[in-house]
Order: sequence, then C-alpha cells, then structure tokens
Amino acid sequence: MREQLERLRQDALGAINGASGEDALQEVRIRFLGRKGELTALMKGLGALAAEERPVVGQLVNTIRDEIETALEAVLAAAREKAKDERLRSERIDVTLPGRRPLAGSKHPITQVIEEVSDIFAGLGFSVAEGPEIEHDWYNFEALNFPPEHPARDMQDTFFVDNSLLLRTHTSPVQIRTMLKKKPPLRIIAPGTVYRCDSDATHSPMFHQIEGLMVDKGVTFGDLKGILTIFTNQLFGQKTGVRLRPSFFPFTEPSAEVDIACVICGGKGCRVCKNSGWLEILGAGMVDPEVYRHVNYDAEDISGFAFGMGIERIAMLKYGISDMRLLFENDVRFLKQF
Ligand code: PHE
Repeated sequence: MREQLERLRQDALGAINGASGEDALQEVRIRFLGRKGELTALMKGLGALAAEERPVVGQLVNTIRDEIETALEAVLAAAREKAKDERLRSERIDVTLPGRRPLAGSKHPITQVIEEVSDIFAGLGFSVAEGPEIEHDWYNFEALNFPPEHPARDMQDTFFVDNSLLLRTHTSPVQIRTMLKKKPPLRIIAPGTVYRCDSDATHSPMFHQIEGLMVDKGVTFGDLKGILTIFTNQLFGQKTGVRLRPSFFPFTEPSAEVDIACVICGGKGCRVCKNSGWLEILGAGMVDPEVYRHVNYDAEDISGFAFGMGIERIAMLKYGISDMRLLFENDVRFLKQF
C-alpha cells in the first residue's frame, strides 16, 4: 500500500508538472483527488490493513493529498497569472494616444443658402410658406395663367405623374396655395424642391427654388426692385449692381429677369458671365390680375410682386462651383469645404 501511495504521489506530481493550462490542471486534480479519483480508490484498501498500520497509512494519505493540493495550487496560480498577463498584454491600451475625434457633419451648401436667404427675407418681414412637391396641374399651371395647350408650358420640361398630377416644376404654386388660404397683406417666401426633365453641368432634374410673394395695397414695381436690391446686396455684398431686363412669365405682368453684376469679375467680363459682366439670378414681376382672379383677390384693390430664384445657381455663384452635379453627389471631400 505504501508503495502504491508513493507511486501515486510520483505520478500526480509528474502529471502536474507536465500539464499546461488551467483546464489540464483541473483534469489532473479530478484524476487523482476527485471523488472517483485514484487516491480515493486506494483509500478503499485502508480497511484491509492491520489496526496499528491504519492510522500511519491514513496519515500518509493525508500528507500526500496535501502535497498534491499544494503543488496543484502553486502551478495553477502560475498558470492563472500567465493567462492574466497575456490578456493584459493583448488588451493593452496606449493612454498617451491622442483621442479619435468623431467626424462632425456640416450643413449642405444648399441648406446654407436656403437659410441665409430666408434670414434676409425674415428681416424684411417675410415668413416661410410651403407646398407639396407632387402638385396638381391647376396649382402648377392653370391658376398661374398657363391655360391648357399654352406654349409657355413647354419651357418647363414637366415630369407628369398622370393627366392632372405632376412633380412641381417651380415653387410658384405655393403662391396660389398661400393666397387661397390668406387674405392680403401678404409677405412670404417659399423654399423648396422642384423638378424638370433636364440634366447637364448646369441643370439637374431635381433642384431648389425660393419663391417670394408680396401683396398689399399699393405695392409697386419700385418696391420689387428695392427689396431685390436689399436682398442681393446682403447676399453677395454691398453695392452689388442689380439690373432688370424685360422678360415674360404668364403669371406676372410686367415681368423681368434680374441680373447682378458678375461676382467673379465684378462686371468687367469673364468666362462665368460670358463676358457680359452680368449674371442672371432670378425671375420676377408684378402679379398678373388673371392670377388674382383664380384666388378671389380683387385686383382693383391690391397689387403685388413675385420672384423666384434657383438656389443651386446662387450657391454656385456664391461658392464658385462650376458643376451643379457636385451639389448632389454628396462626396464628403467636396461637402467638407463648406
Ligand atoms: N417660376 C418661375 C420659374 O421657375 C420664376 C418666377 C417666379 C418668375 C415668380 C416670376 C415670378 O421660371
């Protein structure tokens, strides 16, 4: 029995030294010290010993168990320490590294222009109005004095949804919607998305406009020119020259195209203004009495002006962007500059 115990002791210590890792060590513990382990099995033989031998051998069993326990604990502790070291090393954090800054977004240049224009007109007493992008023919054309078959409809390259529904080609229908809801005096601007079947470096099938409308007693063409001069001076800088040229829109009479002195060359003539010194930035005019008839306003009692501008065009001029498509590609390298 003593020999068996001695062999077990040797085997156990050998197994402990040969085991690598916590799991293997736990297996060694079970194999030698477990309830069905080798030491327990040997102890069953204690009963067969002579009475005076029993305590001595029992004592020896305890000593060997303690010895195995101690050896196991020591190696286990070392294995745990090693595992912890490895974990710490693999999870090491260099606290001296500079922090990673989250990318801060910025407002799209179109949004910036809309906000800037809206702010300027807010200062002139205009409030913001809105309308739907899918519009009835009646608001987009008919009530704006484009009768069916009118040739001016052709200029608008309309996307039709069906016979009477379309994607609005301009923000002018918001004029109609506003006048149907409110009585004069009226001062609104209406920024929004519009659609036309047209696409190249200076035209996009989806773009943005800002409409303006002022109706009151005694509003004149001089008021229109005054408001637009204040506006362009604030947007492009003091003393930007403004020029009005006769034009045509079915819903304004008289109508004008509004130019500003070229922001690139200051009026001397360059590639951007095609050597004219002027840049067209909006259409405008006095609201046609025919429009008032559609919204039940009394043209004898009031008068007003309207204007409409393309926001992409203004953004391109303001920031010197040569291709409109850059505004819609949303390349972060481009957008970051604003
Ligand atoms: N709606 C016109 C267009 O898109 C612009 C405009 C608005 C002209 C208001 C005059 C008055 O071309």
